[in-house]
Amino acid sequence: MNIAIGADHAGFTLKESVKNLLLSLGHHVDDFGTDSAERSVDYPDIAIPVAEAVASGTYDRGILLCGTGIGMSIAANKVKGAYTALCHGVFEAQASRKHNNANILALGGRILGEEIACQIVTAWLSTSFEGERHLRRTRSIQHYERRNTPEHPVPGVETGRFIVVDHPLIQHKVAIIRDKRTSVKEFRELVQEIAGLMVYETTRDLPLEETCVETPLERTVVKTLSGKKLAVVPVLRAGLGMVDGILRLVPNAKVGHIGLYRDPETLEPVEYYCKLPGDIQERDIYILDPMLATGGSASAAIDLVKRKGARKISLVCLIAAPEGVAKVRERHPEVDIFTAALDKHLNDHGYIVPGLGDAGDRLFGTK
Ligand code: RB5
Repeated sequence: MNIAIGADHAGFTLKESVKNLLLSLGHHVDDFGTDSAERSVDYPDIAIPVAEAVASGTYDRGILLCGTGIGMSIAANKVKGAYTALCHGVFEAQASRKHNNANILALGGRILGEEIACQIVTAWLSTSFEGERHLRRTRSIQHYERRNTPEHPVPGVETGRFIVVDHPLIQHKVAIIRDKRTSVKEFRELVQEIAGLMVYETTRDLPLEETCVETPLERTVVKTLSGKKLAVVPVLRAGLGMVDGILRLVPNAKVGHIGLYRDPETLEPVEYYCKLPGDIQERDIYILDPMLATGGSASAAIDLVKRKGARKISLVCLIAAPEGVAKVRERHPEVDIFTAALDKHLNDHGYIVPGLGDAGDRLFGTK
């Protein structure tokens, strides 16, 4: 295995012993420091580079040591994709692999003797993740990380925002539309309501200008929208279900339409209809598609409006899969993505899980 190891001054001595063990077991080891027990170093300065190197996949595992192991585990676990287990015995070390799929081991140099530390490390490295019920739990942690950790910006490219609009009212309504027993009528109404509630977030940055009004008491300065032009562009057909909810709040927005179907041979989205406002380059464009699944049609819709001259584009969906978010991010990194929920994954048929099924069929009662 490729192993990254690091320690502060209080973990240095034990690190040297663990390193020798790893080399004797035939592992490749890179030492991220420190190189002395005398000179004080701050554990986050070691923990974070090791955790980032493991989380990025450069190393299979990491081992971190400080006086107690506590500071190292706290700091390393701030890194998305780092799952650090602080262990004092062989049982914990094995469980941290079997149940938690820990990819970093934290040890306390002032707590453990060399012999037990080596037993812990040996057991930890030779124990596999058991998956099954534990997978649900580790995925749940990853789900939380994806929702709450901002993406690293790509140098030189403006990075759009990825926002899960998870206001309690929205979560409540999303819960109802997920339920397969929800009627077409109720589903349709709720989709419009959720899309409307999301407008508060999607339009948060609209520019304002100051003006004056006479209240019944005095003249005062107020702020009004500075006349920014908007357009909503539903992707047919499911995107239509979101339009009215948005127009209720921004009644002057223009509406464009994009129709795409999936070529049965290439599986690529193909345009069959596109009618956009003539002044699209002057408008903030909100592409509407309730389900961001593979990201194929969303990316194609964004391509299309870009080709027609659109400059400021956001994608608004209700439920997104990580695969779809990643695809849109990769193809259109500058586009803001808003969703009411970020789900776990796509199944083999390209449906979002847990999702809500086919949004078009549920909106129009066509199943
Ligand atoms: C350093 O004295 C000590 O605080 C550090 O090694 C570690 O135990 C922190 O968690």
